[in-house]
Amino acid sequence: MSKKCLIMYTSLTGNTEKVALRFKSTFERNGWECDTFKVRKSADDILRPPFDPAAYDFLCVGSGIRSHLPYNEIVNVLRRFRIDKDPRILLRNRDEDIPYIKEPVPQYPPRDKGKPFQQKIVLGGDSKKGIVFATYGGHEFGPKEAVPTLELLALEMEHLKFKCLGQFCCPGEFMKGPSPGTYHGDIRGRPNEKDLLKAEMFIEDKLEEIADRTVST
Ligand SMILES: Cc1cc2nc3c(=O)[nH]c(=O)nc-3n(C[C@H](O)[C@H](O)[C@H](O)COP(=O)(O)O)c2cc1C
Repeated sequence: MSKKCLIMYTSLTGNTEKVALRFKSTFERNGWECDTFKVRKSADDILRPPFDPAAYDFLCVGSGIRSHLPYNEIVNVLRRFRIDKDPRILLRNRDEDIPYIKEPVPQYPPRDKGKPFQQKIVLGGDSKKGIVFATYGGHEFGPKEAVPTLELLALEMEHLKFKCLGQFCCPGEFMKGPSPGTYHGDIRGRPNEKDLLKAEMFIEDKLEEIADRTVST
């Protein structure tokens, strides 16, 4: 039976989506089944997501970047999976809300005193695997500007018990002009075919890393 991958991402101007779709075709060429879930700013996507990562063998999580961080939708849906509850319960502790969700915020459920609240997570060799990805402008510092996004997505992914095997990022255009004097210079048209080939090779490498080469004797 073929293995199943879920690519969960947010993309406001289509750049991260290009990478997501190239990942998908790479998985499929390698015999995997692959679903994509583009998370939108909607109550249904955050509170009642149509896909559950637990049903998959491999998870890819990606986002564009605004103000140095991933888009809130992707982080909120990951939080939703992590606590299996409305993520606004957690956002209250950060003085934040999700403005497009109009349903009342539920009360935090009373804690079961017999159960530990939080526990150390150790992801062993047999745990499920995943990767995170981002597209970014990086005008000032280049790829370093994608690091907080990639690290945050990786942390949330590992909370879902998918060991993060790697991080992929590439520039994604966001201004009309050639932007001289910036780290990457002219990023119009990025991700371009060269970026997408790198994305493809990144997935090929990860599939090689997780391939089961056991020979039965
Ligand atoms: C309002 C706005 C803010 C942005 N802020 C950042 C930023 O802080 N750091 C960065 O590297 N890129 C930033 N970018 C660039 C986007 O992350 C980049 O264009 C990305 O490819 C967009 O992905 P998407 O098309 O999938 O939405 C910003 C773009 C916009 C439009």
